[in-house]
Amino acid sequence: MLEPKMSSAEIARSFGYMDYAATIHERCAQSRHWYLQFICVDPDYQGKGHGGRLLKFLLDRLDSERESCFLETQNQENLAFYQQNGFQVVEQGTIPGTDIGHWAMLR
Ligand SMILES: CC(C)(COP(=O)(O)OP(=O)(O)OC[C@H]1O[C@@H](n2cnc3c(N)ncnc32)[C@H](O)[C@@H]1OP(=O)(O)O)[C@@H](O)C(=O)NCCC(=O)NCCS
Repeated sequence: MLEPKMSSAEIARSFGYMDYAATIHERCAQSRHWYLQFICVDPDYQGKGHGGRLLKFLLDRLDSERESCFLETQNQENLAFYQQNGFQVVEQGTIPGTDIGHWAMLR
């Protein structure tokens, strides 16, 4: 039998996060939109423009289709990266039961 990698408290907390994030997503992005769930660059290659190019590739397409885009971040340092690319913070909070910040952004 496989050993669980997460405790039941951790599993409950991650489901709690999913509910929290889904409620904010629904509230903040009520019309048709894309959902940018993850964008990541290998730490050795961060800060060299790759993330910006990846994001631009997606946003150029969304602009040509006149689509909006929603995302969340838990890292305040990422806000500038997204703001430079036209996203605005639409809701800011703290993940329940933690001291982790949560920012919802829309473009
Ligand atoms: C966020 C992430 C995707 C950005 O990719 P990157 O390749 O490092 O970013 P770029 O080199 O293209 O940077 C583009 C611009 O954003 C700025 N920027 C990027 N990350 C930043 C940060 N953490 N803090 C402040 N500015 C940042 C850069 O200074 C740059 O600005 P400039 O064009 O004026 O010089 C990357 O840092 C990453 O994978 N981080 C870890 C995972 C993560 O947090 N993903 C986002 C989940 S919401």
